[in-house]
Amino acid sequence: MKKVFVKTKHHTYTVYIQHQLIDNIVPYLPKEDNYVLISDDNIPKQYYDSISDQVTIRHSYFIKAGEQSKTIHVANDIIEKMIEDGVTKDYVLIALGGGVVGDLAGFIASVYMRGIDYIQIPTTLLAQVDSSVGGKTAVNTPKMKNAIGAFKHPTKVLIDPETLNTLETRHFNNGMAEVIKYGLIADKELYNRLNTPNILKIIDDIIATCIAIKARIVYLDEKDQGVRQLLNYGHTIGHALEQFSEYKLLHGEAVAVGMAMAAKKQKFKDSLYKLLENYNLPTTYDYDKEALLKIINTDKKAYKDNLNFIMVEEVGNGFIKTINKKDITHYLR
Ligand SMILES: NC(=O)c1ccc[n+]([C@@H]2O[C@H](COP(=O)([O-])OP(=O)(O)OC[C@H]3O[C@@H](n4cnc5c(N)ncnc54)[C@H](O)[C@@H]3O)[C@@H](O)[C@H]2O)c1
Repeated sequence: MKKVFVKTKHHTYTVYIQHQLIDNIVPYLPKEDNYVLISDDNIPKQYYDSISDQVTIRHSYFIKAGEQSKTIHVANDIIEKMIEDGVTKDYVLIALGGGVVGDLAGFIASVYMRGIDYIQIPTTLLAQVDSSVGGKTAVNTPKMKNAIGAFKHPTKVLIDPETLNTLETRHFNNGMAEVIKYGLIADKELYNRLNTPNILKIIDDIIATCIAIKARIVYLDEKDQGVRQLLNYGHTIGHALEQFSEYKLLHGEAVAVGMAMAAKKQKFKDSLYKLLENYNLPTTYDYDKEALLKIINTDKKAYKDNLNFIMVEEVGNGFIKTINKKDITHYLR
């Protein structure tokens, strides 16, 4: 078993990484049997069945799979059902699924009765290497991705890499975009390891490495006011493309294009493009420049005329550069 500790000013929790963890979760859960669970309707039923065989899940809420469910309306529907079901503050919410379930369930946990505990059981690579850790929770509005959100850390994160065996290749590769991002911003050795023909063989190590990088960054800057913004490499353009494509581009795919654009004048450009292509990730997307700029103007890292743009000039060393919003056009086609 691999363990990574996440420490912030007010919270400390453990991320456990272990094969078949889903089938042996009891030792890692708090003792109470007051659990409710949020998942989506596309995740193989075997994971839910295994968990509900081991602990008492009082109520379960299944959302329609996909980014379109990450809205305040879906959150509100679940909250209404939780009230009807008599869910009180001593219940623990389990988020079983990818980043969509994790972000939505975390958001509900942050606001339901002013906050209840929740546990992340991430089942996509993207959620295992990134979104399940660090406490960012949110829902989208039509005008802005992650527009409504809160910081709410899970009390535990239980990662079972076996769940990746049922994940579609496109979604696996989607998570690889975030892994590549970690290599670029913080770990050259990780970046170099990604050229292997069989990444699944080293996936536990890769997950633990990414989470450890995220934990280090979150420890230094929990609330995204400084160094944590490094995690947004490729995301300024990526988030805008994701929204522009009406979520036809998956999150990681949009970030892949965002990283490719941010790196287009860098020495490591060719190696990055090759790596992205190895994982079937896009390096370009057909977009309307004006529409994209409009979305970028509302980016959460934008302030008045300026924007904190994340740059990498040498693999493993990300940095934050404040640029004039207009200058983002240098990175666009
Ligand atoms: N909170 C954060 O820090 C953070 C960081 C990065 C991304 N995100 C968010 O994460 C979201 C994307 O997450 P995602 O890529 O996991 O997408 P997702 O949650 O939509 O999952 C992708 C698909 O995989 C299916 N699936 C999940 N686990 C499976 C399994 N084990 N086997 C088979 N199918 C499975 C789901 O049903 C879904 O259809 C975006 O909304 C993004 O904004 C959040």
